[in-house]
Amino acid sequence: MMIKFAVIGDPVAHSLSPAMQNAALKKLNLDAEYFAVHVKAEGLKEFTECARRELAGFNITVPHKGAVIPFLDGISKEARVAGSVNTVTVESGRLYGDTTDGYGLEQALAEAFDFHVPNGRIAFIGCGGAAHAAAVWFASRGAAELFLLNRTLATAESLAEKIRREYGTSVHTCGLSEADKIPAFLKNADVAIQCTSLGLKPEDPAPFDLALLPDSIRVYDTIYKKTPIVRECKRRGIPCANGLAMLLHQGARSLEIWTRRKAPVETMRKALEAAYAKAAK
Ligand SMILES: NC(=O)c1ccc[n+]([C@@H]2O[C@H](COP(=O)([O-])OP(=O)(O)OC[C@H]3O[C@@H](n4cnc5c(N)ncnc54)[C@H](OP(=O)(O)O)[C@@H]3O)[C@@H](O)[C@H]2O)c1
Repeated sequence: MMIKFAVIGDPVAHSLSPAMQNAALKKLNLDAEYFAVHVKAEGLKEFTECARRELAGFNITVPHKGAVIPFLDGISKEARVAGSVNTVTVESGRLYGDTTDGYGLEQALAEAFDFHVPNGRIAFIGCGGAAHAAAVWFASRGAAELFLLNRTLATAESLAEKIRREYGTSVHTCGLSEADKIPAFLKNADVAIQCTSLGLKPEDPAPFDLALLPDSIRVYDTIYKKTPIVRECKRRGIPCANGLAMLLHQGARSLEIWTRRKAPVETMRKALEAAYAKAAK
């Protein structure tokens, strides 16, 4: 019988995941398919019940990464601390949640900058769901220090508190409006991750005055468009990369969790880049 996987979100039609996952399933010679399902918040319960019978696993994208948790039977420590699940495995009708966004970002940082998370000093610009997942993962991987910048300071502080309590990591916080503090704050970090949703729309402003960005930093933007911060880095010669490799590696890890086989990463990369180029046209 054909094995079925899915990605759910609202919206989800734009997702590049089916292209890369179907290329991988084919490469692995599996009689399987991966498709996108548009699920609204009020349909989550029904979807998860159906998934118990119909699917072998599914990915979750915006805005359901936290909302799906009450419908699961088990969850990894990192997903619980971050309050974010992007990968669910179905086994004997039971749903087990995990998060692979942090792993994907870790691999992307190694590829882009030869940067390694253990003992690293990492800043997050924005503290929404993606930053929660990645910061918690980095703490679990032995990051030396984390620097959390967010518009809503209370969100950064509550994440910092959780990470300190669970992992004992040194975590510092700063508000995006505290312009006088930002340069020194970012200078302490080896790499900064742009995790706000600013830049998704062409008219979006930068998250803060980019003149405050130190020359010594490297910037990874989780968005895979030319955001204001990416343009500024290119102009000033600051090493930077966009979020496509993060998407690739989080998906590769999901596939490995579901199939217990090594993901054909280069096949997935090729399919992802082709789908991205087609969507950008
Ligand atoms: N490449 C990948 O594989 C990958 C994976 C996951 C996510 N992402 C990207 O990561 C980004 C964030 O996703 P998410 O799930 O974390 O979203 P989210 O939970 O909605 O968080 C949004 C973040 O953006 C901040 N923000 C929104 N509008 C702002 C504004 N006008 N000024 C300053 N800050 C603002 C929010 O700050 P407040 O807390 O103050 O509201 C929050 O920190 C998205 O653009 C998404 O595309 C990429």
